[in-house]
Amino acid sequence: MPLLDGQDIPLGTLISVATDAARQAGAILTKCTRTGFCIEHKQIINLVTDADHQAEQRIIDIIHDTFPTHRVLAEERGMTDQPLSRYKWVIDPLDGTTNFAHGFPAYCVSIGVECDGRGIIGVVYDPTRDELFTAQIGYGAYLNGVPISVSTIDHLDRALLVTGFAYDIRDTPNNNLDHFVRFALKVQGLRRTGTAALDLCYVAAGRFDGFWEVTLNPWDMAAGVVILREAGGKVTDFKGASHSIYGRELVASNGRIHQAMLELLQADRTPS
Ligand code: IPD
Ligand code: CA
Ligand code: CA
Repeated sequence: MPLLDGQDIPLGTLISVATDAARQAGAILTKCTRTGFCIEHKQIINLVTDADHQAEQRIIDIIHDTFPTHRVLAEERGMTDQPLSRYKWVIDPLDGTTNFAHGFPAYCVSIGVECDGRGIIGVVYDPTRDELFTAQIGYGAYLNGVPISVSTIDHLDRALLVTGFAYDIRDTPNNNLDHFVRFALKVQGLRRTGTAALDLCYVAAGRFDGFWEVTLNPWDMAAGVVILREAGGKVTDFKGASHSIYGRELVASNGRIHQAMLELLQADRTPS
């Protein structure tokens, strides 16, 4: 039955709709790997496939079946023209499109929910491994129903870090290559997976110890930051100030290596 705005919606209701939508979108992505999909170029290295569009449509339909008044910000569709609501769903139907298009199995569906501007739900589903990361604010983070927490690594020499590069890498000097070089010489290992939402979940699960990126969008981060915080992790901007998914920068870590990451990121900055 549709639920209208006004009173608080139980977190359990929100997460169950988000989980259902993420799993159904994941099934669409898996089906498309078997049946094929069309690729379009938004820009020279920025792809979108019809799998992105199909998955996004399914997610929006599922949300609006239950919550017809809620706002939705989705990567391909943009902002829906619903009236103002306390609730906003922030969706990346396929995070890791380049991987997906090449058959490289590192991609996911990411769905975050905000209430009054605060992230309260995060669901990230990796259909290639059948891994579902979930979090409700105040109730911890889970992988396939089992609690997860960040690592205890406390020195960059023993840390496995991850980063990413935005599609404007060729067009701007703020393209993260300077940070990448500096970190590569300071850490145990450095990866680029091509899926920011999963990167955040992997920090939450202790698989990575830290993650930073220079130019992200709200849909890349909305779910993952809720999951990371609920797993005991820390997320800020490059100055160590509070993080907003509507800013572009993100530094995410297990907390213990956060200051060391900030110092390296700030060392790269040319004085203004
Ligand atoms: C991209 C991925 C990638 C990150 C880019 C994002 P998309 O999202 O998350 O890891 O480095 O900045 O744009 O285009 O695959 O949804
Ligand atoms: Ca994305
Ligand atoms: Ca995407």
